[in-house]
Amino acid sequence: MPISLLVASSDEHFRETIRDSLVNVAGGKVASEYPEVSSNLYIRVLQDLERYPEAALIVDLSEDPEGALKAVEKVKQAAPDLYVIASNYHADGETVIAGVRAGCSDFLVQPVKRLEFREAIARLERAPRRSSGSESRLGKLYAFLGVKGGVGTTTLAVNFAGVLAQRKQRTVLVDLDFTGNDCAMQTGCAPQHTLIEVGENLSRMEPALFEGLAVRDPLGFLLMGPPDQMERRAAFTEPMFREFAGFLVEKYESVVVDAGRWIGDDVVLAALQSSSSIFLVITQQFPAVRNAQRYIAALMRMGFNQDQLKIVVNAYQKKPAASLATLDQIRQTLNQPVFYGIPASPAALAAVNRGRPFVADRAAAGDLDRAFRAFADKAAGKPLAAKQE
Ligand SMILES: Nc1ncnc2c1ncn2[C@@H]1O[C@H](COP(=O)(O)OP(=O)(O)O)[C@@H](O)[C@H]1O
Ligand SMILES: [Mg+2]
Repeated sequence: MPISLLVASSDEHFRETIRDSLVNVAGGKVASEYPEVSSNLYIRVLQDLERYPEAALIVDLSEDPEGALKAVEKVKQAAPDLYVIASNYHADGETVIAGVRAGCSDFLVQPVKRLEFREAIARLERAPRRSSGSESRLGKLYAFLGVKGGVGTTTLAVNFAGVLAQRKQRTVLVDLDFTGNDCAMQTGCAPQHTLIEVGENLSRMEPALFEGLAVRDPLGFLLMGPPDQMERRAAFTEPMFREFAGFLVEKYESVVVDAGRWIGDDVVLAALQSSSSIFLVITQQFPAVRNAQRYIAALMRMGFNQDQLKIVVNAYQKKPAASLATLDQIRQTLNQPVFYGIPASPAALAAVNRGRPFVADRAAAGDLDRAFRAFADKAAGKPLAAKQE
């Protein structure tokens, strides 16, 4: 059985060492990397175990041993059969015992020596495998991130939540763009409560309470967003978001995030880190393509992987004017495949003016609606069309 590893470490050098060491293991590969070892690690791990049910997890404890072991405990609660290897610079009794108590199966001392790594892999190979294939009970998080304002990030997030809800998925749309707060505008609602109240009530959060705070869109999804007063941004913190995200993926099937466009916001960054897919929204305008390059470079430096990142070209024109980039040019410039092109259509603007998602009126949206549903099928990773609408 080929070995695949999930690697959690904020240390780029550590992740690289593991990648390099695996080159010498026949069929061995790193299936996924997590640049942060946080309490939300289990969300990504469970998502990835659906795709790589045989994978084992290696966790770097060196930066924050206590925090990392808490994260391991949560991962093990969610995936009790997962084989976990802990790693740190020292392997004194106390460290190893703490690792064992958190549910680790093995320990690897840093700096990682080739022989010791090979022995650890041999032990992993001999260990009984988890009875794979079980679908994660956790919902999926999808983030839409714009490389500029006005590229259609909010439009795509709102309509994606709309399609998922039409297909009977229990869906929550979370607006994290505190500067825009446009999801409410595009769905034509006036929320009474915001992320601030979510933050204040996290310790007793449960679906009934949350559904009292959120707005239910006529299409069926729940919407939760920021307060209109931008100056209150700091009242909703990253730890609050992480706890909220844990609640959401445990209770709902799909969580769609309008991430706006500022990845320097730690709440936005935490959302991206918890997402199984990040849809990077661009247009064919050259400034957008150039900015997409900067976004991809930054996200790669922060340890995101190409699997997670999906380029969506919005307002796509097949035969673009000379001032616009073609798909080929985009592909070449970004050195990434284009995941999907969503056609330019006046129906998008009409929908925003109406204050309703375009997927709410299939006839009016025509080609845009058809293309968007095909995108949604691909984006959700399975043909949603099979489900009832
Ligand atoms: N596929 C599309 N075709 C034409 N116009 C679009 C399309 N998608 C979005 N728009 C329009 O672009 C404008 C900006 O959209 P918005 O979703 O607010 O972008 P962002 O969230 O990136 O700032 C809106 O007027 C919207 O109607
Ligand atoms: Mg927006």
